[in-house]
Amino acid sequence: MLAVIGGTGLSDPEILGPHAIMHSISTPYADKAVEIYISSRSGVQVPFLPRHGVGHKCPPHAINYRANLWALKEAGVKTIVAVNAVGGIHSALAPGGIAVPEQIIDYTWGRKHSFCDGESDALLHIDFTHPFDARLRADIVAGALEKDVPIWPHGVYACTQGPRLESAAEVQRIKRDGGDMIGMTGMPEAALARELGIAYASIAVSVNWAAGLSNEEITLASIGRVLDTSIQKVLLLIDSVVLRRAI
Ligand code: HPA
Repeated sequence: MLAVIGGTGLSDPEILGPHAIMHSISTPYADKAVEIYISSRSGVQVPFLPRHGVGHKCPPHAINYRANLWALKEAGVKTIVAVNAVGGIHSALAPGGIAVPEQIIDYTWGRKHSFCDGESDALLHIDFTHPFDARLRADIVAGALEKDVPIWPHGVYACTQGPRLESAAEVQRIKRDGGDMIGMTGMPEAALARELGIAYASIAVSVNWAAGLSNEEITLASIGRVLDTSIQKVLLLIDSVVLRRAI
């Protein structure tokens, strides 16, 4: 089963279709159950998890990534398409641009980033050479071609801690490191999916130029405006992948 994790702008539990059925799934990682919404998309049941919670309440550094991923695994999910809002660094990622990133650099700290954190757990050294699932990335890229959605099928996703945005110097440092886009939620999500053996790839939507790369002020309102214009493209990509996987 393929699930979608929605980020900023994708928190409405019925974004994938009306009459979504909510499933509450308990996990060892939180007192509160994780709520997953199952919608029918192109005739296929697709679980949806709004990573910031319904109404976008939880900031990136406070998200319980382990509970979220564990709950999806419990629900029988084998594949995750994650949607991540990013600030663009690469010229292909002006606001409104969409990437299917190939690599990750993790600048986060203090997040519960592994299921292996005690003596009783099996030691896991997952291979993370290629953090995103190659087949799933290829399916998203093929879907973009089929639906005529312009995407940039490359890029290094740099994950910062947030919730504040970066300083201009931090963006320059990330650029020197090879980062093409900056978000706050790709990690530890991608690594936890790998630990659980779930195929994971990201649709990264640029909602602003990263700090210092333009004169525009980055505000929640401006981010919201860009997301409103990109959401239909993201849904087209999701539909295409859902159908490819259902056949
Ligand atoms: N930086 C980090 N995360 C983000 C940004 C950004 O500029 N835009 C959207 N998410």
